[in-house]
Amino acid sequence: MKKQKFTAFVKELNVRMKKEPITLRYIHILGTVVFFTSISSLVILLALYLNQRLQTSLFLQNDHLSSNPLTSPSLSPPPPHGSDMSDEELMRRAAMAPREAVINETHPKVAFMFLTRWNLPLSPLWEIFFKGHEDFYSIYVHTSPEFTEEPPESSVFYKKRIPSKTVEWGRSSMMDAERRLLSHALLKPSNARFVLLSETCIPLFNFTTVYTYLMGSTRSFLGSFDDPRPMGRGRYNPKMLPHVSLSDWRKGNQWFELSRRVAAEIISDHRYYNVFKDHCRPPCYIDEHYIPTLVNKICPEMNSNRTVTWVDWSRGGSHPARFVRKDIRVGFLDRIRFGSNCSYEGEVTNVCFLFARKFHVSTLEPLVKIAPYLYGI
Ligand SMILES: *[C@@H]1O[C@H](CO)[C@@H](O)[C@H](O)[C@H]1NC(C)=O
Ligand SMILES: *[C@@H]1O[C@H](CO)[C@@H](O)[C@H](O)[C@H]1NC(C)=O
Ligand SMILES: *[C@@H]1O[C@H](CO)[C@@H](O)[C@H](O)[C@H]1NC(C)=O
Ligand SMILES: *[C@@H]1O[C@H](CO)[C@@H](O)[C@H](O)[C@H]1NC(C)=O
Repeated sequence: MKKQKFTAFVKELNVRMKKEPITLRYIHILGTVVFFTSISSLVILLALYLNQRLQTSLFLQNDHLSSNPLTSPSLSPPPPHGSDMSDEELMRRAAMAPREAVINETHPKVAFMFLTRWNLPLSPLWEIFFKGHEDFYSIYVHTSPEFTEEPPESSVFYKKRIPSKTVEWGRSSMMDAERRLLSHALLKPSNARFVLLSETCIPLFNFTTVYTYLMGSTRSFLGSFDDPRPMGRGRYNPKMLPHVSLSDWRKGNQWFELSRRVAAEIISDHRYYNVFKDHCRPPCYIDEHYIPTLVNKICPEMNSNRTVTWVDWSRGGSHPARFVRKDIRVGFLDRIRFGSNCSYEGEVTNVCFLFARKFHVSTLEPLVKIAPYLYGI
């Protein structure tokens, strides 16, 4: 029954369609097209409007929270510490930040970027180091996202944590964390130099010496060398061709010190980073190869190719030596401070390292005792 009725209806429709003059049929079709086009334009307009509203409120919020007097409308305002922004948006804005430090009514600053899992056990030593130099540094801390402990308000580390994600050592999530730190630091136009540090790092000289050394250098201090061994060239994957060749391939210590220009170049790179994410996985450690190789490809003349963060590999094995309480002696620290030769702005110097790692929490007490000697205070 039902089926019959339906076929009858279709037939009638067909007949009517055929009877209708061609022009009328076109008008019908045109009407339908116009109707759907206007509906979809309305939807698009509505979406655009909502998006605009959302962006405006985002920027207003940033302007409101930002206490930086340097912020001008032409520069992206630095996001307040703790604000949430997607990594892509963060890096997009960081890549647009000025390539040279903008020094306006302030001093160029050194950005100290701490990549840690939990807290900073050696923070009392760093507090001594930073004391009295407030206008000359910025601090950024990336922790495990589960770590939410806040140091006391009096600490230089108070509210310095940036929105963080989980890091797996030796994987690209580690590089993402480094890029997150760099991006946050780049958004502050007065940051001129960028140091990456771990929770086991200590400063070897006082703030003035470290600041003068870094500011006075035209080059970055990024360890970079061609290691012919399996743990160097052996980690190169020919699938990286044609973007990265074996002769481009470099290895270096993860704990870098960069000029603003090199930091901005790194944040602007997507092409090589994607190649590394695809083809440098353990036992290829991306944090030991990506930045040294990238800098070697795009701005080799801007690098000194040496690191300013000392570490002891002399004991062999896959991890560097870790120092404990009994190791802390003036002689040991002075050997690190003055016991090497290197080149600094074309001159040979015996001050090659400004920081050292890996210092266990048990070294804190003797280090604080020795601090007046180390820092001349
Ligand atoms: C600092 O920047 C502000 C706005 O960006 C500008 O109006 C002011 O003249 C600058 N001051 C100096 C000393 O350059
Ligand atoms: C560092 O190495 C690159 C090659 O990777 C070279 O072009 C540059 O001149 C070196 N820098 C110094 C200071 O020797
Ligand atoms: C560094 O250079 C000085 C002077 O040239 C030399 O006496 C010293 O032995 C060198 N030290 C090292 C560790 O090479
Ligand atoms: C910092 O250390 C240097 C030696 O490295 C010393 O000459 C200077 O007086 C110290 N500065 C301060 C402010 O303690």
